[in-house]
Amino acid sequence: MRTSFPKGKIKAVLFEGVHDAGAELLESEGFGVERVAGSPPADELVALLADAHLVGVRSKTQLRGAQLAGAGRLLAVGCFCIGTDQVDLEVARQSGVPVFNSPFGNTRSVAELTIAEIVMLSRRVFEKSAMMHAGVWDKSALGAREVRGRTLGIIGYGHIGSQVSVLAEALGMRVVFHDVAPKLPLGNATQSESLDALLAQADVVTVHVPASASTAELLGEAEFAKLRRGAIVINNARGNVVDLAAARAAIESGHLSGGAFDVFPQEPRSRGEAFESELRGLANVILTPHIGGSTLEAQEAIARDVAGKLVKFVNVGSTTGAVNVPQVELPVQASAGEIERPHRVLHFHKNVPGVLSKINSALASEGVNVRSQSLQTDSEVGYVVLDVDPSASEAALAGLRSIEETIRTRVLW
Ligand code: NAI
Repeated sequence: MRTSFPKGKIKAVLFEGVHDAGAELLESEGFGVERVAGSPPADELVALLADAHLVGVRSKTQLRGAQLAGAGRLLAVGCFCIGTDQVDLEVARQSGVPVFNSPFGNTRSVAELTIAEIVMLSRRVFEKSAMMHAGVWDKSALGAREVRGRTLGIIGYGHIGSQVSVLAEALGMRVVFHDVAPKLPLGNATQSESLDALLAQADVVTVHVPASASTAELLGEAEFAKLRRGAIVINNARGNVVDLAAARAAIESGHLSGGAFDVFPQEPRSRGEAFESELRGLANVILTPHIGGSTLEAQEAIARDVAGKLVKFVNVGSTTGAVNVPQVELPVQASAGEIERPHRVLHFHKNVPGVLSKINSALASEGVNVRSQSLQTDSEVGYVVLDVDPSASEAALAGLRSIEETIRTRVLW
């Protein structure tokens, strides 16, 4: 009779210095864990992926079609961050590989940094500090403002944007936000009817939108022109959301009084590599190396969150929290007590008309007794988890494999 794949043979490869808590959790399950500092060049990456069952990346390691195709044993990917644009989600989906992330493990860290930057830029602190380091004592109130009573425009009112909203109001700021979706305003914040209406009234604009076709260069020359003279722009979201050449021009002309940028269209791949940007050398511009979410608290929270989701998928088959496949939440054990524990079979399939009846007839013709079944679908992919009599799991597997629409199937235990 088939037994489950031994946990000790499951190999997880964690890239880019994922917090120890992630490796510890995977190891406590008996999985083997290989840790790779930084994001390796393409050829090394391919070699490391070849025998990996689980892969953990942060924002740098690109898992495109070619890399995923070379990872023949891959069961699931964990993005130990919020963004998942470093992974080709569609290729992973079509291969029955769930991709997990941590949607709010570092939300508060980004929000705190944003608030700190609003105050620092309003007081021109970095510019003054740089002068002090150069031996210049420039005691002056020129260009320094309180944030109380000023208007903060938040573009993207999701996890981070809404946290920034709460913290900014606590500092006495007036908050207006713009989002493509209707959102519940927190506190006294108000949703702007348009991006232009927000730009017309904001003293500070901060973007908290994902990278997408609709957010590429969302802020450029035309948008900066709509801002009040002296406004501040902050991008702690994704590098291509702001047109940096236009930002430089607006700052040099004095139309913008400053800005903070944590993300860039091209970012160095690892620590120590040179950083090039048209924003270098500007006064009252804070540049940070994509550290918005990089606090110890956030890294630990993310590591526990994502590693926990990987463990749950491997052990139980749950895809809750996956960003690219239908989400199925499952109990640890489908039955207890007297009855012999069933075997659990996972089946990813193309979601086309008639596939469910094919699944049912394939199981029926193999004589498989299904004790329980959980199914979720999206427009293209279906994910069904079957608990079958222990003696029937091989037959179930054979039946499911014979179906043309099968993407991937395996016995979990
Ligand atoms: P979220 O998904 O909770 O919120 C994003 C919001 O943007 C949603 O409400 C969505 O409706 C809105 N949106 C999407 N397209 C829009 C558009 N064209 N115009 C206006 N609103 C639009 O995401 P969350 O957690 O708030 O994160 C936002 C972004 O911050 C992430 O996508 C990620 O790129 C970035 N991030 C950066 C970090 C850093 O280290 N600097 C760390 C964490 C996240």
